Amino acid sequence: MTPAGPRKTAAYIGALAGLGLILAACSSGADPAAYPEDDIDIIVPFSAGGPTDTVTRMIAEPMSQELGVQLVVQNVDGAGGTVGAGQAATAEPDGYTVLMHHIGMSTAPALYDDLAYDPIADFKPVGLVTEVPMTIVGSSDFEPTTFEEFVSHVQENADTVTMAHAGEGSASNLCGLLLMDALGVEVTAVPYDGTGPAMAELVGGQVDFMCDQTTNTTGQIEAGEVKAYAVTTPERIEALPDLPTTAEGGQPGIEVSVWHGLYVPAETPDEVVTELTDALQVALADQTVVDQMADLGTAPVAADQATPEAHATLLQEQTETWGDIIGAGQGG
Ligand code: MLT
Repeated sequence: MTPAGPRKTAAYIGALAGLGLILAACSSGADPAAYPEDDIDIIVPFSAGGPTDTVTRMIAEPMSQELGVQLVVQNVDGAGGTVGAGQAATAEPDGYTVLMHHIGMSTAPALYDDLAYDPIADFKPVGLVTEVPMTIVGSSDFEPTTFEEFVSHVQENADTVTMAHAGEGSASNLCGLLLMDALGVEVTAVPYDGTGPAMAELVGGQVDFMCDQTTNTTGQIEAGEVKAYAVTTPERIEALPDLPTTAEGGQPGIEVSVWHGLYVPAETPDEVVTELTDALQVALADQTVVDQMADLGTAPVAADQATPEAHATLLQEQTETWGDIIGAGQGG
């Protein structure tokens, strides 16, 4: 085989360089102009069947239709949501890995000394999704019937009462901390990888109570599978009109709602973020999503909150607020 002359060699090198550039772009999927060209993984940092998973699957369908590719839910649970968030933080910043997370994004820095990511520096917010009320619910075998009876029973039997939550920094854990602080007692906490599995054991009577989002409790309450004691919002909610607020039950300090947002790794191109934010806005305006959320006690955020700017502002504020609350609680 005769060696190619100088002109032919240069042509070969040029062609190989061009091929290299194309392969590099394809491998990193980093061509924002053509985004999206492939399915998108959306990481849910809690178990399947729980409230975070439920909200994610509600918006994944209309977002997939808008983007023209599938949003594939990946449940990566553990450690109050920090395992899944950590995996998202180090994903390729090409728009093909998105994270759905909630208030736990803002509490983790104050709770985990060895947190593998910085919720603000390592991510770009895409937009807020919904803010979900919480309910205090008990197993059908649990003795108390009203919220007042629940308060007295827990205070008088703290050494034998068990409370489920989804790991340190999860919404159910935070609500539980507020509850214990207000009642002035410590009960036995039983951690799960999500309140999906926790609910199964609550219904089965293996654990006494938990504080969980209406997106996971409304159906069980309506079906009579669990006892409902109170909702953690200032006013009663339309989906559960007979459920009193914690304030009506004499505990105004137990007030918490779980805000949710979408994130991508920090280096993801802005054009990609815009595509995702636009698709999120379409999903939140979708009547099916509005109705599904209403049935489960919540609602999409307003359009001006489903933006990177509004999301970044809330995340900053909440990280500072929970840092102060948790720091004070730990004598910090
Ligand atoms: C879940 O999706 O399992 C919940 O969000 C867990 C929690 O934060 O309580």
